[in-house]
Amino acid sequence: MTYTASTHVFQLDEIDIDAHLIALAADILRHGGLVAFPTETVYGLGANALDEQAVNNIFSAKGRPLSDPIIVHIASQLQLTDVAQDIPNKALELAVTFWPGPLTMVLKKHHQIAPNISANRDTVAVRMPSHPIALGLLNAAGIPIGAPSANRFGRPSPTSAQHVLEDLNGHVDVIFDGGSTTIGLESTVLDLTGEKAQVLRPGGVPLEALRRFLPDLEFKPQYLSETEASLAAPGMLTKHYSPNAELRLFLGDEQRVVEAMQQSAETLLKAGKRIGILASDNEAMNFSEQFENNDNAYVVALGSDLEQIGAHLFAGMRELDNHHVEVILVHGFGSEGLGLAIWDRLVRAAEGRVINI
Ligand code: TXA
Ligand code: MG
Repeated sequence: MTYTASTHVFQLDEIDIDAHLIALAADILRHGGLVAFPTETVYGLGANALDEQAVNNIFSAKGRPLSDPIIVHIASQLQLTDVAQDIPNKALELAVTFWPGPLTMVLKKHHQIAPNISANRDTVAVRMPSHPIALGLLNAAGIPIGAPSANRFGRPSPTSAQHVLEDLNGHVDVIFDGGSTTIGLESTVLDLTGEKAQVLRPGGVPLEALRRFLPDLEFKPQYLSETEASLAAPGMLTKHYSPNAELRLFLGDEQRVVEAMQQSAETLLKAGKRIGILASDNEAMNFSEQFENNDNAYVVALGSDLEQIGAHLFAGMRELDNHHVEVILVHGFGSEGLGLAIWDRLVRAAEGRVINI
């Protein structure tokens, strides 16, 4: 059954946080309720990680399959020993460097953590966020908090309280509105439980930064084999981070890609489709000129560097959905630094519709 609640939205100023509201939400969490809050990456949907029923409420509110494990959030490095055990020294070293911040580490699970948090595995994903509202709430609650991104399963992650409300109104007790999140892409998930450390999801901490501590570290996208499989059996690729519109990802040299996207756009418009373009500020200018007087084409300029583009990517997808476009065309942004996380989200949103020019 879906978790239902009457949803209250409270605005919080991260510079002058209302301690009463934090105490109220901490109480709700301790009693098994759900609280959505901003982190530096995306908004999270929090519940008490020690309470199996509360964790179950997360799955039902999001419509998330029980097989997809959830990240546990902590307020300090000291709390790590409440969540994980047999912690390798490398994890402590990484925690000192990257916490609080957008790094999630998969470690051996402590027995007191609810089994459904990690879909009954013996591992647990844990991170300490840096957003003052998240840290304030985690401190006041005094318990580890399980929190996936606060979107309906499969939708783009929420980077504002409005996005959370669109997806979860009536399914979360409290939403803290702390404005738009700064990174806009989820944390990097690093698995330290195997023989070799592995990045399971690229995110806010670039691979290059982690390689200073783990020189051989690699990211092997699990869905590449899925992409191949999807050619044989269309529709098999895991739909994730997806706008409602069909997203087509173009890869290749900038000038040729822009030309190919312009042609593709013309063809779609002639066929009567409503289209959207996601592009860097620079590239967006080409399209804005091309579609100046066309009511069926929307261009979203994401920014001029990878930080800005990452911060606006999910919001851009949602904006185009709100315009009811049917197809979104987007050019990749490379694979260096945050580019890898952006590429990962785009490949998945495209469900295998990747056009190499
Ligand atoms: O930035 C973030 O990480 C945000 C904010 C709210 O902290 N959270 C987030 O959670 O993106 P979610 O649930 O949307 O993504 C969690 C990712 C999934 O890819 C999941 O498979 C992986 O972490 N994960 C969680 N627990 C795991 C475990 N025990 N082993 C392997 N992967 C795990
Ligand atoms: Mg998510």
